Amino acid sequence: MNMENFIRKILKYQSVTSTFDKLLEFEPENGLTVVAESQTNGVGRLGRQWQSDSGGLYFSFYVDSRAALDKLPFLAIICALAAHRTLSKYVSCYIKWPNDIVSEGKKLCGILTKTAIFKNNASYVMAGIGVNVNNTEFADELKDTATSLKHITDIEHNKDEILEKFFNEFESICSSLSTEQIINQYSDVCITLNSSVALHYTDGTVVEGVCTGICGDGTIDVETEKGKINVNSGEVSVRGIYGYV
Ligand code: BTN
Repeated sequence: MNMENFIRKILKYQSVTSTFDKLLEFEPENGLTVVAESQTNGVGRLGRQWQSDSGGLYFSFYVDSRAALDKLPFLAIICALAAHRTLSKYVSCYIKWPNDIVSEGKKLCGILTKTAIFKNNASYVMAGIGVNVNNTEFADELKDTATSLKHITDIEHNKDEILEKFFNEFESICSSLSTEQIINQYSDVCITLNSSVALHYTDGTVVEGVCTGICGDGTIDVETEKGKINVNSGEVSVRGIYGYV
């Protein structure tokens, strides 16, 4: 993967609506990053909100989609692997497909990828990552499913250091691993693989099965009563049969 023109230009803000909104105010450059102390309208997957009080690490960056990362789900897979490598330096954690980082059964980090369309047809995509670092309070509806590094380790962590480690891992993965190696490394730390899962579709349907494979395009195969289905992250949220994981 060609990462030659990937820059680390990090623009820091106190409060933004969403780091995606702020990033879109700038001409795209491969690796240009917006990081904010807090977001007033942080967005999550499947139209959800992302609680973004100060304490967390919230950032979005552009990726030149000609760098062979053009498929959004695959960019999310790379980001999940980079986030897992980073956060496992602090706590024991794993990936919950498609791209949550989970520790002690609760979510520590979420990732969202988006396309960015520009007038001159420049082909850029954006990755947005939220890590619960020093967060101490979660909204009632998140209390059972969210955690933070501080909560797990009882100490505060340096967000700049985490951001730097993330980009070290991201660049290393992109420049040195093949697609197959990325999928293999992702599979090694993915709790969803070989687990029983309940697929909650956005239309309310729930389908149960066992996840039997992570595919090269970031989708999963799930063996159900009615046979094997291929599942795309854009349409479902995955739960364990008995709970969040
Ligand atoms: C998820 O639902 O798991 C994805 C959450 C992604 C949150 C991050 S925080 C930085 C970036 N800006 C946003 O508004 N969302 C992403």
